[in-house]
Amino acid sequence: MRRYFVGGNWKCNNTIAQTQSLINTVINKLVFDTKKVEVAVAPIFLHVPWVQANIQKNVQVAVQNSSLTKMGAYTGEISVEQVKDLAIPWVILGHSERRQYYGETNEIVGKKTRIALDYQLSVMACVGEKLAEREAGQTTQVIQAQLDAIKKELTTDQWSKVVVAYEPVWAIGTGRTASPEQAQEVHAFIRGWLKSQIGTQAEQATRIIYGGSVTEKNAADLIKQPDLDGFLVGGAALKPAFADIVAAAN
Ligand code: 13P
Repeated sequence: MRRYFVGGNWKCNNTIAQTQSLINTVINKLVFDTKKVEVAVAPIFLHVPWVQANIQKNVQVAVQNSSLTKMGAYTGEISVEQVKDLAIPWVILGHSERRQYYGETNEIVGKKTRIALDYQLSVMACVGEKLAEREAGQTTQVIQAQLDAIKKELTTDQWSKVVVAYEPVWAIGTGRTASPEQAQEVHAFIRGWLKSQIGTQAEQATRIIYGGSVTEKNAADLIKQPDLDGFLVGGAALKPAFADIVAAAN
């Protein structure tokens, strides 16, 4: 049985005072059964040490990116050794904002995923189609290419530390959530891909979470879908609504 997973991706939001307030008023008040649901939040890198020192023990900390390169002369980067060194368990990779604004190709995302897994980090690997791709009937093709690029880099065993996040680009920050049926259709496709490309173990054990305008209003219906194992939440993760979303998975 898969444990639900709820991630809060805080993106490039919050001053330190706002992050402190969010932790104190929302995150540290979350009550959930850790046997049923795993919760992780991803602040900006600069806030990580404060968050680690002050967050309740049932909530894990994630970072929103890690470097393609190791420690060394790479100005402005943060490497997987450094993420590991701070005992951060999770990294979000391949987010559509990284793909769209920072030129991360499928190949780069595949390589970053392998490097993070080589350092025993767990990875939320994001995939998803743009609106034009969906309208052109290319959704599964696009997602397959994104997954294939990750598969190319990983051993079968490494998939046990991957959560796949399906985030349709047209649903991110737009208020236009995928319907439960639309989400399930793609999640089932991803589950089928895991079975045929990685194996039965990965098919059964890998969490496939949904992201894109998840709110306290739509979470309960989405989570009923058989292949939907949780959420990656953006805007609503900065608000008390996050507690309701965690509750929907609990
Ligand atoms: P929103 O929940 O704001 O649509 O963002 C989703 C997302 O990108 C999470 O990674």
